[in-house]
Amino acid sequence: MSRYAGLAGAGKGAAICDLRSDTLTRPDAGMMQAIQAAELGDDVYGEDPQVNRLEAVLAERLGKDAALFLPTGTMSNLAGLLAHCRRGEEIILGAEYHVYAYEAAGASVLGGVSLCPVPVRADGALDPGAVAGAVKADDSHLAVSRLLSLENTHNGLAVPLADMAATADAGRGAGLAVHLDGARFFNATVALGCAETELAGLMDTISVCLSKGLGAPAGSVLAGPGDLIARARRWRKMLGGGMRQAGVLAAAGLYALDRNVARLAEDHARAGELAGELRSLGAGEVSQATNMVFFTPGDGRNDALRAHLAARGAVIGGGSSGAIRMVLHKDVDDGALDCAVQGLKSFYG
Ligand SMILES: Cc1ncc(COP(=O)(O)O)c(C=O)c1O
Repeated sequence: MSRYAGLAGAGKGAAICDLRSDTLTRPDAGMMQAIQAAELGDDVYGEDPQVNRLEAVLAERLGKDAALFLPTGTMSNLAGLLAHCRRGEEIILGAEYHVYAYEAAGASVLGGVSLCPVPVRADGALDPGAVAGAVKADDSHLAVSRLLSLENTHNGLAVPLADMAATADAGRGAGLAVHLDGARFFNATVALGCAETELAGLMDTISVCLSKGLGAPAGSVLAGPGDLIARARRWRKMLGGGMRQAGVLAAAGLYALDRNVARLAEDHARAGELAGELRSLGAGEVSQATNMVFFTPGDGRNDALRAHLAARGAVIGGGSSGAIRMVLHKDVDDGALDCAVQGLKSFYG
């Protein structure tokens, strides 16, 4: 079952609490003001002040030489992967990681790069031994292993620094560079209580999303060494991702980085509350990490639960069977969470 099952279209009514994804966050009044006040230029000419500032701010926060603004996390990962790898080379990555499972094999289709999946451990990390074992020998029959691509958070799980370091070391020891899909990088650093540079410092390149828990309407940033970011910039052009007055989006990103990072802890706490309520209702298998709750209503009850909650203003995704993912975010406050909890109580009560 795809993670994206049941997501589209379900929120068309007047939802009080939309738990399908943290991508659903809408710009608030302060963010809209920042967008309106933004001084703009043509970013393809390198003249948009907001984009230049956003790239400089994130390069510095992540301790990297340079950064590049892109429209989406998928394009940011792809430009990063293609900056590292050439045709006939290979990326080792988690079989359930977004880059492998949900990015339409872009690096293979567009870059002639092979993807070599290894199992993801229950804690969201890749086993260092599995990574080392996947690296190919120097043999003309085989692809050339070039890059290790990691993810943090993965399904909400914040992988601890020591595990990230052990896996990255296994890759580096075999001559691989290391990329991080940090779509929810700041959820990870907030949950781990580590400095942003501590996690970023383990990676060569990092992609972070501004459009998920941080609440910007769109945009991702790839950070890394200057030569790789220059190559990624060329890929961004080829992929059609060079935007002109992109400062309208970058201004929202800068606002989000200033205001919305520390508050991610509130989403994590509400996710903990929701998981606690589900457990006390005896509502199937429940797991929670950072801002995500996974739960299995069981007995073919998914559709009935979804309809029951929707009638009460709470929207959830998921298919007709299996686990349902619920994601806490900036636009779910205590009142909205209570709407979902009351709906769950009346369903199970
Ligand atoms: C872990 C992860 N990586 C990358 C992406 C891709 O981001 P986008 O939807 O902006 O392309 C997502 C999207 O949800 C994601 O969850």
